[in-house]
Amino acid sequence: METNQVEYVQRFTFFPRFLHFLVIISFLTLAVTGMALKFASQQWAEIVAEMIGTFETLGTLHRFMAVVTFTYFGLNFILMYQNYKKSGGSLKEFLFGPNSLVPMPIDAIELIQTFKWFFGLGPQPRYGRWTYWEKFDYMAVFWGVAVIGGTGLCLWFPEQFTLVIPGYWINIATIIHSDEALLASGFIFTIHFFNTHLRPEKFPMDPVIFTGVMPLDELKHERPREYEQLVAEGKLDSIKCESPPKWVLINAHLFGITALLIGLALVISIIYSMVFLYM
Ligand code: HEM
Repeated sequence: METNQVEYVQRFTFFPRFLHFLVIISFLTLAVTGMALKFASQQWAEIVAEMIGTFETLGTLHRFMAVVTFTYFGLNFILMYQNYKKSGGSLKEFLFGPNSLVPMPIDAIELIQTFKWFFGLGPQPRYGRWTYWEKFDYMAVFWGVAVIGGTGLCLWFPEQFTLVIPGYWINIATIIHSDEALLASGFIFTIHFFNTHLRPEKFPMDPVIFTGVMPLDELKHERPREYEQLVAEGKLDSIKCESPPKWVLINAHLFGITALLIGLALVISIIYSMVFLYM
């Protein structure tokens, strides 16, 4: 009889996975519709508009996904509060403890260690629950939503905003919205994709954000500081779980790889359009 030897541990519960699903769906749609509006004179943008409806439909979809963005942003505060209550400690321990997403001196040390490791000048850093780049990605959503969301609302409701701000600020808001969108898309579809899915240990993708579970060996190898902490606190057994069913893994890969391909195709379209328009 065949037995499954691989032991698994739970990394993400349903709520953070659901929020990340909303982030993927909304960000991809906002980036595709926004860039098609920005580069509307390009053939690829016309194809996108025709596939979805018209350029007007792109604007409507863009606004709908903006609402989804503000929703997951709000829900994230509920998740934070739940995690704080679950931690059972003080607010200070929650914010500055080993499971916190707040950047701390250890992150700077691990950043340096990582670069040394890249150049063969030291061992792989002993990462904990969150690496420095995961903390950066998480924080980036806060300023990203503030800047893109704030300027996006100015573009959506210009009459209301110009009751309190000068009209030319709407032009400035358009430039900031558009450039921050380029920066965010460029970052997510290259650096975030590479760090999370395309690096050799994970290629072609890491399904953990969809399945919520990871092999115990991976935890030991990639996050030894977290593993040792779980063992020391006697919590390791409580997070051990079954391997995900095959259909979940297949769907996770199909969904994830589709999202990766759309993102990469969009980056290529943006670079092509910028070279074409500005050279
Ligand atoms: C989250 C809140 C957001 C709001 C409220 C918002 C709102 C808007 C609105 C109202 C427009 C004008 C659309 C039209 O002409 O019909 C626009 C344009 C655009 N949006 Fe957003 N948006 C948001 C997020 C994003 C994100 C996340 C991206 C990409 C990563 C993005 C990329 C763009 C781009 C590239 C344009 C075209 C700007 C130009 O014409 O240069 N937006 N947005």
